[in-house]
Amino acid sequence: MPEYAIFLDSVDPKAKRPREVVRDHCAHLDRLDAEGRLIAAGPFADATDGGMILGSFSNLEEAESFAHADPFVRGGYSRARVRPWEWSHRENGHLGTIEPRPGGHPRFLTTLRLRATTRRFSGKPIADGVVRSLLLAALAAPSEFNLQPWRPIVCRHMTDRRRLQRCCFDQPQVGSAALAVVCAVDPLVFEADAPRAADEFIARGRYPPEQREDVVTFIRSCYRDPRNAAIRNGTIFGHQLLLAGVSRGLAGFWLAGFDEEAVRKEFCLPTRAVIAGVVGLGWAEAPGPPMPRQPLELLVGWGHWPDPAVAGSCGASAPMASDDEGPTTARGSRTRGPA
Ligand SMILES: Cc1cc2nc3c(=O)[nH]c(=O)nc-3n(C[C@H](O)[C@H](O)[C@H](O)COP(=O)(O)O)c2cc1C
Repeated sequence: MPEYAIFLDSVDPKAKRPREVVRDHCAHLDRLDAEGRLIAAGPFADATDGGMILGSFSNLEEAESFAHADPFVRGGYSRARVRPWEWSHRENGHLGTIEPRPGGHPRFLTTLRLRATTRRFSGKPIADGVVRSLLLAALAAPSEFNLQPWRPIVCRHMTDRRRLQRCCFDQPQVGSAALAVVCAVDPLVFEADAPRAADEFIARGRYPPEQREDVVTFIRSCYRDPRNAAIRNGTIFGHQLLLAGVSRGLAGFWLAGFDEEAVRKEFCLPTRAVIAGVVGLGWAEAPGPPMPRQPLELLVGWGHWPDPAVAGSCGASAPMASDDEGPTTARGSRTRGPA
């Protein structure tokens, strides 16, 4: 989707904007953000007048109508100028100049800490292209030996979501989400795809070709407990899908309350299939605050089991001197107080 810069120039820099207008302006931005289309927005910090919005829009007309619907513009406080703009970042190889690489996402760490399971959705569908890009992002998840044993069952249409809901003890969020995905895994892949995985490693120079049979045997030998491995790999897929959705402004849930046999029967899964869980995504109706988390000090062990009574005489490394919490406190309180 093309990107645009919207410049909001103040009509009268001295005119005070009422709180409600500022709040409505923020809500206008939030609506764009909730669709994963807001790149950045804010006032210029070197002056009292003007600000800028960077966002993705289908075309210039859509960007202009968003700009003119802004309460600052509608209220006569700002004039909008819209210019096509190209966002240069590592993921697009700085507009094709270098190889694309994963980039940093300054807001994503905070987003992770603000994520909360959502069970009520607006009913608005997720566009085909977005669903496809979420699935591609989830399929880019790591898997053991790159075996990619995932066989997700995607339920988009209401009939499929209702079928799935019935297999999930009728938990309503399954039907309410715009997308519900059964994170199914085929454990046969651990055996059957071992030669492909070995060939990939050989092609990448990790093993010499003459060791192919040994590599295949080694990969297969790692799956004495295929169910465990299937759940591990399926969970990573599912969580990558959930976070991919969150990165686009969607909210969602994990769900383990399902009848595995019923899902198998309803969706014609082979008896060997293992289901790691169900992930749902949609546009949140009313996003809730995050659930509390226990303190890091209680849960994390630095070189030993966290409970000192159990850790006994294990060698211990020093805990971190201070946490890297940044300016916002998303969950709980900061462990580092003001200086
Ligand atoms: C593996 C897994 C299975 C879950 N299963 C269900 C479920 O069947 N039904 C449900 O309402 N919530 C389910 N949840 C959601 C949890 O209750 C929720 O993640 C937890 O309360 C923490 O809240 P948060 O996700 O908002 O941080 C599940 C979560 C996980 C990680």
